[in-house]
Amino acid sequence: MRISRKMEHVHYALELGQTRQQGLADIKLVHNCLPETSTDHIALTTTIGDLTMSSPILINAMTGGAHETENINRELAILARDKGLPMAVGSQMSAIKNSEVASSYEVVRRENPNGIIFANLGSEATTEQALRAVDMIEANALQIHLNVMQELIMPEGDRSFIGMLKRIENIVRHTPVPVIVKEVGFGISRDNAKQLRDIGVQVLDVGGSGGTNFAAIENARRPAALDWLNDWGTPTSMTLIETLSVYPWGSVIASGGITNALEAAKALTLGASAVGMAGAFLKVLRVEGVDALHAYAEELHQGLILIMTALGANSIHDLTRCPVVIVGDTAEWCRARGID
Ligand code: FNR
Repeated sequence: MRISRKMEHVHYALELGQTRQQGLADIKLVHNCLPETSTDHIALTTTIGDLTMSSPILINAMTGGAHETENINRELAILARDKGLPMAVGSQMSAIKNSEVASSYEVVRRENPNGIIFANLGSEATTEQALRAVDMIEANALQIHLNVMQELIMPEGDRSFIGMLKRIENIVRHTPVPVIVKEVGFGISRDNAKQLRDIGVQVLDVGGSGGTNFAAIENARRPAALDWLNDWGTPTSMTLIETLSVYPWGSVIASGGITNALEAAKALTLGASAVGMAGAFLKVLRVEGVDALHAYAEELHQGLILIMTALGANSIHDLTRCPVVIVGDTAEWCRARGID
């Protein structure tokens, strides 16, 4: 059951695509016609929690748990190794419950012994399960995903969300690596960010709406679809600004609908220290193949170097000193929420 669901997610993520309304069109970078730098001076190194990463582009959590997903993880892990990208695996609960499928996750560490790899579980996980997920792939950090709306739309999904914060707090306290709390495409509000900060969560991945849409994916999988929920969630631009009002630089990953270097640069200029991309990598791998996947990652890096040169930002952190103008719905959202 669990295994076929994972391939269904891959199938529908590709079929439905990304909605492309992540709000980043509202973020305008101000051109700098005297940047006083050169492409040779640009460094893509960045920081997430205590981790230093050679690229700000994270291959975000997708899959594992079955033979076909093992092949996807292998190709993504080879990309991560060759291009120096951090990478998260998909939820490891299936392997915690059935050790026979653990190799579909372990392949990621086998292919990339020195890389930065994130483990992944849902907020239903116990502390003991969290430790096993980290051990399974010798993870450098643990992602805990939040996906309440996805669960509610799934007929077989969870219906009770009591005790999530307490379980996350215990995991943070007992896990030897940084804990990243992430959404899967519905966003994290400023108020939720404060709750998570207060229990000691080091890093947030905002997972805003506007990219892969898990409301639409679950509706495609179920009879009597609840299509009127397909627009649920806070777009990436807005959830990013909300969480950055609570969490400092070095502790926020922007994700949800990021597909190119310009969108990544906008999120980094707003203050994210890395960007997560899932659906876009999956699409290039499955539709165009492995060579195109490697070319795509290279294009993302070269595109970032080009934009950073144009803005006169020698480092990812320098981008936060570049001016941005926020217009449209995102500006309206900030005003309504009282965020400067
Ligand atoms: C996901 N995502 C996801 N997230 C997570 O924390 N655990 C998981 O197991 C999965 N599984 C998964 C499967 C597939 C096929 C996709 C495309 C995505 C969510 C993912 O990490 C990300 O948060 C969202 O997809 C939004 O980002 P993009 O796709 O718009 O870049």
